[in-house]
Amino acid sequence: MRIYKAKDYDEMSRKAANIISAQVILKPDCVLGLATGSTPIGTYKKLIEWYEKGDLDFSEVTSVNLDEYKGLDKENDQSYYYFMHTNFFNYVNISPDSINLPNGMEPDSDKECARYDEVIRSVGGVDLQLLGLGHNGHIGFNEPAEEFKKGTHCVDLQASTIEANARFFASMDEVPKQAYTMGIRTIMSAKKILVVVSGADKAGIVKKAFTGPVTPHVPASLLQMHSDVTVVGDAAALSELDI
Ligand code: GLP
Repeated sequence: MRIYKAKDYDEMSRKAANIISAQVILKPDCVLGLATGSTPIGTYKKLIEWYEKGDLDFSEVTSVNLDEYKGLDKENDQSYYYFMHTNFFNYVNISPDSINLPNGMEPDSDKECARYDEVIRSVGGVDLQLLGLGHNGHIGFNEPAEEFKKGTHCVDLQASTIEANARFFASMDEVPKQAYTMGIRTIMSAKKILVVVSGADKAGIVKKAFTGPVTPHVPASLLQMHSDVTVVGDAAALSELDI
């Protein structure tokens, strides 16, 4: 596991965007596993900036997103479909046909999870997976549990996750209680993984996840077993690590 300490959010975003750029330049037809949340927004901004300068070309890239709320449609401004389009896809030349997310409007969980696993399989797996980190150690929406869930699954969100995400909704009642998420096996099968973390409120979970025991109670801890993980964090998020 490589850990890069950036001085602040802007430097973290630039470093993460540099790593994604390197992937796209070295393999223009790569599969990018993408993430939502507030942390990667700056990374997407940098990628858009460099695309506009002519330094990056996404025309051959395929994307697969980590997760989506169950029950939110594409037009809902809190759906991850909406987030990805308004924070990234609408501003670069990725082909709409090459963009993949779980379909939050499919009520049949078994059907949607099987479909999404097949999408990931059919594109040949993920070359570079971008991840944020939840305060409880979740990655995607793989919540702390007694066991690691392997493939795409429908998850009941934990109270702490619903609370953390309530800031984006008009009221707590509007926050979806379930989501579709890529499973841990899929995430661990990515050839490379890039984790972005920012802010003092993540310092405790960063320490637990990356230096503590590997356990499904802290899903991100399993990343310690992956052979090519890069963590890019700002000084506040990495403040409890001995680096
Ligand atoms: C959500 C997403 C995760 C994300 C997490 C952290 O729960 N499903 O993929 O990593 O939030 O979000 P933030 O970056 O806003 O702290």
